[in-house]
Amino acid sequence: MIKRLVFATNNAHKLNEISSILGDKIELLSLKDINCDVDIPETAETLEGNAILKAEYINENYSIDCFADDTGLEVEALNGAPGVYSARYAGGDGHDSLANMQKLLHNLYGKENRKAQFRTVICLIINGKEHIFEGIAKGSISKEKKGEGGFGYDPIFIPEGYDKSFAELGTDIKNKISHRAKAVEKLIHFLKTYK
Ligand code: IMP
Repeated sequence: MIKRLVFATNNAHKLNEISSILGDKIELLSLKDINCDVDIPETAETLEGNAILKAEYINENYSIDCFADDTGLEVEALNGAPGVYSARYAGGDGHDSLANMQKLLHNLYGKENRKAQFRTVICLIINGKEHIFEGIAKGSISKEKKGEGGFGYDPIFIPEGYDKSFAELGTDIKNKISHRAKAVEKLIHFLKTYK
């Protein structure tokens, strides 16, 4: 099993979340750990495309085994939006979670169908070969924000089988059922059996 891997992200929250799912099985290095301070542009039109683009950038420039992820919130009544544009849904430089949630609640106003899913795609490059893993968390969009925890769209996403938002459920539960956890589980299973 591989012991060291670079996770191509600058997002400390995601790094901590994935580190805690991985436990001590794998030493996870950040972009900072390999002295990479580039904000790799996510210019692809799909989650898969962005994950591949970021992993290839690190692999080609640093010659190291690595993985990258991309996640989107796909809302059924909005034909899969915001999807790959989740971070920048409300415009600007993106990552304005409050504005993104407000726009989503506005666009869903009066709609019966509030079904949605988070989808994470991971691209792993190991010994020069690419492998793709996907994790999906199904649920629905609440009518208002609930809870203080988490990040992004967590306060308005109610995972299937629960009546609380990801923000209310907290990290322990979220890390067991989330899109990212499911994709990482597949990644770990692959790494454990990798020869
Ligand atoms: P990223 O590809 O992980 O950076 O995710 C893109 C955007 O999707 C983020 O900026 C968040 O708005 C949203 N997002 C990703 N994962 C989550 C999550 O677990 N909870 C809530 N929002 C998320």
